[in-house]
Parts: sequence; C-alpha cells; structure tokens
Amino acid sequence: MVCVPKPHQQKSPAIVAGLLEWYSKNARDLPWRRTRDPYAVWVSEIMLQQTQVKTVIPYWERWMHSLPDVRSLAAADLELLHKLWEGLGYYTRVRNMQRAALEIVQNHGGVFPRDFEQILALPGIGPYTAGAIASIAFNQPRPILDGNVARVIARVFAMPGDPRMKPHREKFWRIAGDLVQCAEQYATASHPTACSALNQALMELGALVCSPRNPSCSVCPLTRQCQALQTGLVESLPTLVKRPKATPRWFHAFIVRRGGKFLVRQRPAETVNALLWEFPNIETTAADADPAEQAAILLGYPALVEFKTSFTHSITRYKIQVRVHTATAPRGEVEGCQWVSRSRLSELPFSSAHRRIADLAQTLKP
Ligand code: ADE
Repeated sequence: MVCVPKPHQQKSPAIVAGLLEWYSKNARDLPWRRTRDPYAVWVSEIMLQQTQVKTVIPYWERWMHSLPDVRSLAAADLELLHKLWEGLGYYTRVRNMQRAALEIVQNHGGVFPRDFEQILALPGIGPYTAGAIASIAFNQPRPILDGNVARVIARVFAMPGDPRMKPHREKFWRIAGDLVQCAEQYATASHPTACSALNQALMELGALVCSPRNPSCSVCPLTRQCQALQTGLVESLPTLVKRPKATPRWFHAFIVRRGGKFLVRQRPAETVNALLWEFPNIETTAADADPAEQAAILLGYPALVEFKTSFTHSITRYKIQVRVHTATAPRGEVEGCQWVSRSRLSELPFSSAHRRIADLAQTLKP
C-alpha cells in the first residue's frame, strides 16, 4: 500500500486497513447494501438524512417496490410520492428527487450519471449525497461527512471545533478525503471496492461503536490510532456548539364529521408540508387559548367542541403542541376544506402530526 504521507496523514494507512477489516466482519446487512444501483443508493441516502436506519428500511423497501428506477420516479404522481414519504418529513426532498429524476431522463438518457460534478448538479443533491453516491455506487474516491463520520474523525485525530461550522468543516472534509484516497490506493484484488467500503465503514463505526455517549472503545478497531482515547478526550469530542432551545408553538386541530365523511384540507404550495393534507387547525399565541373560540374563528360557525387528546412533536427548531378536539359539523361548507370518506382518509398523504390525528379519527364512534 502506498499512501504519500503528509504530516497528519501518516496514520491513514493503518486507519484504512483497520476500518476495512472491521467493516468486512461487522457491516449490518441493510437492504440498500445488497445493490450497487446508484438510484437505490440515492434513495437510501436521501431517506437517511434525517431518519434512523431502522425507520428507513420499510420506507426504502416500499419505495423500491413502487418506483424501482429513475424513469418510474420521473413519471410518478405527486400524491404517490408524498404517500411513500408520509412520516419521513422534509417533503421538499421528495419533490427535489422527482425534479432530479426528470433531469436524468432529459439530460442523461435515464441513466444515473457517474460523473461527480454531474451528480452534484442534480436538484437536492449536495456534497454529502454526491459523495455517498459516487463512492458507494461507483467506488470513486470521493469523501463523505455526516454526523457519524465527523465524530469518528474528531476522535481519531483529536480534532477540536464543531465540524458543522465553516472553519472546521473544511478540515474535516479534507481528512475524510485523505482517508478515501488512501483507500483507493489500498484497493487490491481482495478489496476491489475499497472506497465504497471505507466510507460505509466510517459511517458504520460512528453508528455502532463510536457513538456520541458511552462509545464502545473496547471493541473499536482504531484504539491504537485514536488520539482522543489516548488523551482522555473521547467523551468531550466532537465539540458541538449547543443549538438554541426549541421555540414552543401551540395549535388546536379539529376532527369534524358529517355523514361518515371527514373535513380536511390540502396545504398550499410554498408552505411547510406543502400539498400534504391536514385537519383544520389554527395556531394560537398562548397554550391556554379557548378551543371553542378558536373553532369559531377557524371554521366560521359556533361549533361545540370536545377535547380528545394532546401531543407534542418537534420539527426543525420548534416544539409544537397540538390539542385535538372533535367539533360539530356545519350545515354548509367550510371555505378551503373538503369532505373525504374513511378510505380516502387512509389514502391521502398527511404530515406526521395529522396522520396521527387521521388514525385517531378512524377509531372514533360515529
Ligand atoms: N447513514 C447515512 N447513510 C447510510 C448508509 N448508507 N448506511 C447506513 N447508515 C447510513
């Protein structure tokens, strides 16, 4: 193995060898690891951006069954895309995926591009995803840096600074690049896909061994190279700047039924959760707003309301409390809302909070 040693790179060959050996024995058998199809890798990487592996598996499987290739994604109905993504959140991602699929059909004959710059130019694909596709699917020596990889690098190289912040981020990317380039040189007949394996090994070690708290250093393949372990800094690295506390927000949502149908509305384009469906709801400026008053403002008639449940969910920097009530039905129509049947309620794509309300609505006695 020939890695040209720059000062901080001298450890790279041993790190790469240790990671590849460890990964060959410890990699989880995840469905997207059984393929080298760049489309399948892309779908998995976008889903995994904000979501844990065990949650993603059934989503990825359903998606690949419904939309097995770029052309089927390009031609898919938006409602189907939203339904396949329902619960994963950050729905712009799925609309960007369709825009990217259309570009691949129009500009690349429906074949996923191999060229890194062309991958990076696709909608919704940033340096992390482009690096993941180029390395995992095409075995190119392109780095990746997500939270798991950054933690491994911070500890092994005892790197101070928040890897999400500009001056530090570049140094972390450079080290991730050195490692995958070293892996390329390491590639042998027994390891023909070393770049692909190296990047996945970094992610896997971060997920399974080098965890944020209580890392399993005793089973780590990099104990001899890990500077943080040798200097007692494992628990204090990486140095992450604390995010500001979540801002509380309060909503009242109403389940309104008439003749076996439910009152729902579709969110407008260009808003959070655009084009997804929801129950009529209203944001209030205080936690203790009167729901009957809110129902009158929202629905435009004096409904009788009955409290059913309350839950909180966190999204981006908000901690949102939703109080759910039933409300008596109007005689006429409610502007911007539609009546849908029970079966349509199951079919329509709702945001996560409103899918919860839809499931509750289905259980209510008529
Ligand atoms: N997290 C991000 N990408 C991943 C992958 N390909 N496998 C497992 N976890 C991941």
